[in-house]
Amino acid sequence: MPYIQSTHVGLLAGACLLASAAMAPAGDPERGQTAAATCVACHQADGSGMNIPGGESWPRLAGLDADYLAKQLHDFQSGERQNATMLTFANMLNDQQIADVAAYYSQLPATPGQGGDVEDSLLARGQQLAERGDWNAYIVSCQSCHGPGGYGVGSDFPGIAGQHAGYISAQLHAWKNDTRHNDPQHLMGAVAKRMNDDDIAAVSAWYAAQPSQRDQEASQ
Ligand code: HEC
Ligand code: HEC
Repeated sequence: MPYIQSTHVGLLAGACLLASAAMAPAGDPERGQTAAATCVACHQADGSGMNIPGGESWPRLAGLDADYLAKQLHDFQSGERQNATMLTFANMLNDQQIADVAAYYSQLPATPGQGGDVEDSLLARGQQLAERGDWNAYIVSCQSCHGPGGYGVGSDFPGIAGQHAGYISAQLHAWKNDTRHNDPQHLMGAVAKRMNDDDIAAVSAWYAAQPSQRDQEASQ
């Protein structure tokens, strides 16, 4: 009997190990701040990032969903999302550090988007795509997935309101060109491939000009 018992213990221990390996570690914002020391050069100390016209914009990370941020870092590591800059920095982090930096950035207050200062006609087209879509071009509205106002829905649909125009535009082009294909149902690829360069510029600028959080809208 002792033999059978120890086998059971072994099986149980094995099952627990499997379960914990599949589960993401819990993130600690304080440890995350330390692990984020190399990130501030681009994402800035307040997580605001920077819009860089004609260059590679650095996204705002402040206030984004922690699980979403962690997923992106794993996707850079695996190549599901290809970006040479971020591959280097994502590879510096282990799973625990990914959970920690994601927890850290998610609890920073969201900062405003940059790059939304464009002519009204472009903004109007952007608003149309964001709120109503364009059925002639088979483009479904962005807010049908990203939520009213573009503030995001859970961990699967990230907030895009108040994100930098250069970054939103870069992501839409990345989906068009298949260098980013990490969305579970390939929903974004289908949307982006139906958009031309003017549509991408319009919707990117419009979202950059929107408040990044609901309470900022109320206070405006
Ligand atoms: C040299 C500049 C630079 C540094 C340093 C840097 N990043 Fe980035 N980061 C970028 C750029 C550029 C992108 C956008 C990549 C793309 O277009 O796919 C990005 C994207 C991201 C994203 C995806 C955000 C989103 O909304 O999907 C996360 C998360 C991220 N970085 C976290 C980090 C962390 C954590 C560190 C530090 C360990 C770091 N970055 C260091 C430039 C940088
Ligand atoms: C059918 C659902 C759906 C629609 C419609 C949709 N998206 Fe998305 N979008 C997603 C999903 C899912 C993701 C997250 C992908 C991932 O997990 O990496 C995403 C991610 C994004 C991101 C990346 C955000 C970041 O922080 O990296 C941007 C930018 C974006 N979408 C812009 C848009 C715009 C602009 C539109 C409208 C023209 C739009 N989306 C319409 C589902 C959708």
